[in-house]
Amino acid sequence: MKIIIAKDYEQVSERAWEVMREVVYGKKDAVLGLATGSTPIGLYDKMAEDHRRNGTSYRLMRTVNLDEYAGLSPENDQSYRYFMNEHLFNRIDVQKQNTFIENGLAEDEAAECARYNAILAQLPRDIQVLGIGANGHIAFNEPGTPFDWETHTVALTQNTIQMNARFFKSESEVPRRAFTMGPKNIMDAKRILIIAVGANKAEAVRGMVEGAVTPDLPASILQRHPDCTLVADEAAASLLKK
Ligand code: GLP
Repeated sequence: MKIIIAKDYEQVSERAWEVMREVVYGKKDAVLGLATGSTPIGLYDKMAEDHRRNGTSYRLMRTVNLDEYAGLSPENDQSYRYFMNEHLFNRIDVQKQNTFIENGLAEDEAAECARYNAILAQLPRDIQVLGIGANGHIAFNEPGTPFDWETHTVALTQNTIQMNARFFKSESEVPRRAFTMGPKNIMDAKRILIIAVGANKAEAVRGMVEGAVTPDLPASILQRHPDCTLVADEAAASLLKK
């Protein structure tokens, strides 16, 4: 794993953009795997700014997102679809019909997972952006998720519900279930960019980089990816061996 440590959030976002820029400048019809959470917002700001200033076009690109809460509609301002529209899609020229994310309202969960796996198979990703949960989860793959799982639904752990409650009016409003790409889908991307910010991620980052490769710490699977870059701020990287 290539590790880039940056001073603060602005620098982290800049370094993450440098990795993303190689892909979006290099391939007009790239497929971008994208993530939600507070961490990649700075990267999306850089992409939007570059589009505005330099006219970088996303018209031929496709995007696929990691995960979506079950039960939330695209119009719900807590849905990941809404998040992506606000933070990125509405600010660049990607065509909305080329942006894919699980349908949180799907009634037949198994059929929705199969539909999403078929989309992923048709659209090999040139890059996959990831954040990391404080417990080492990636997307909504909580500790214990088998590495060979594809898109599935999960019951969120109490830890994740509490962490994500900051985005909702109260903890009781956080959905209890979600659709998520599995570890196997994530590993299928040609390149991975994982971003970690803040001291509360330091333990997970250490486990991911230096610990055993185990489903108990889902992000540790990235040690096996041939082209994975971690961009972390000093706080998130503080427990790594110097
Ligand atoms: C959620 C998302 C993850 C994300 C994580 C960390 O659980 N499903 O994809 O990585 O939160 O979020 P944040 O970047 O806000 O710390």
